[in-house]
Amino acid sequence: MKEYNDYSLLNHNTFGMDVKAKRYVEYDSEEELKTLIPTLESEVLHMGGGSNLLFKGDFAGTVLHSAIRGIEIVEEKGDEVLVRVGAGEVWDDFVAWAVAQGLGGVENLSLIPGEVGASAVQNIGAYGVEAKDVIALVEAVELQNGQKRVFGTLECDYAYRQSIFKKQLKGKYAITYVTYRLQKTPQLKLEYGNIKAVLGEKKDLTIADVRQAIIDIRNAKLPDPKVQGNAGSFFMNPVVSREKFLSIQKDYPNMPFYEVEGGVKIPAGWMIDQCGWKGKSLGRAGVHDKQALVLVNLGGATSDEIITLCETVCKDVYEKFGIEIHPEVNLI
Ligand code: EPU
Repeated sequence: MKEYNDYSLLNHNTFGMDVKAKRYVEYDSEEELKTLIPTLESEVLHMGGGSNLLFKGDFAGTVLHSAIRGIEIVEEKGDEVLVRVGAGEVWDDFVAWAVAQGLGGVENLSLIPGEVGASAVQNIGAYGVEAKDVIALVEAVELQNGQKRVFGTLECDYAYRQSIFKKQLKGKYAITYVTYRLQKTPQLKLEYGNIKAVLGEKKDLTIADVRQAIIDIRNAKLPDPKVQGNAGSFFMNPVVSREKFLSIQKDYPNMPFYEVEGGVKIPAGWMIDQCGWKGKSLGRAGVHDKQALVLVNLGGATSDEIITLCETVCKDVYEKFGIEIHPEVNLI
């Protein structure tokens, strides 16, 4: 266990905000977490890799971070392999491990920043795959009383970038392990965007080829947080009614869209781009020049500057399209 007071979170948030936590504790096991619980103050923030949050200022309570490690095959049934992974493993290390073992299911989620625990909170998703498609169960400890609970996938109530851990149970549980269901005979998912174009004419494709293609696409479009502070997509893609979609499509026949349950999803990045924001900035906060869904810290930006840019962009999108967009990044 590691514990610090007045601890700088600069290296623990990919936006690069220089804020402090009153107390920061990193635990290595469920047992350590349970011993910690009686010592917790009322204000607790459980952090993963800090790749999906924006600190508005110092954090006056305790920041908890899991260093629970381990990747273990726990069951093999026919083509299916269940793999139990510690919440503190770096997500992409797990993806690299799965691909090296020839186990399919997570290769489209290559290079997503963050840790395994957050994959189950956030239902991370990219290139046609979401974490919920591969999660078999989630082990968690209740922060109020130290009781362990195992959640089946349905109990996690997953939806686009949503789960029970972000809604009814927000802040109530610390995820300790996630078990994923992987395939020995992978079904490649190549339908999203330009995956096929990037793979080209290559024959006998493997999950390693798909991982490499996704890595190439992400590297070309998304800024590296080590170079320029950011938290990936800043906004969620809104779902609008069919009527609303058709009325906008009349004016923008080339608008990209995805049919989803309950309506039509319109890429917020496309709308922000149409508003002319791509590559523009307000103060030291900017809209990424290759993917307008990503807000970046141009160097020394305050969270107020990022939030002002966020609000201005939302207002402009609303004025142009009549659609509200909302941050997917958690504001702390
Ligand atoms: N587009 C533009 N201009 C832009 C950005 C996008 O015209 O500046 C258009 C693209 O050409 C494309 C469409 O909008 O037709 C969608 O763009 P893209 O495929 O890049 O995906 P996205 O919807 O903007 C989502 C995820 C990303 C994920 C990609 C790929 C959310 C909030 N974001 O972005 O996730 O990598 O799909 O699956 O759903 C993240 O969560 O941090 C993240 C990067």
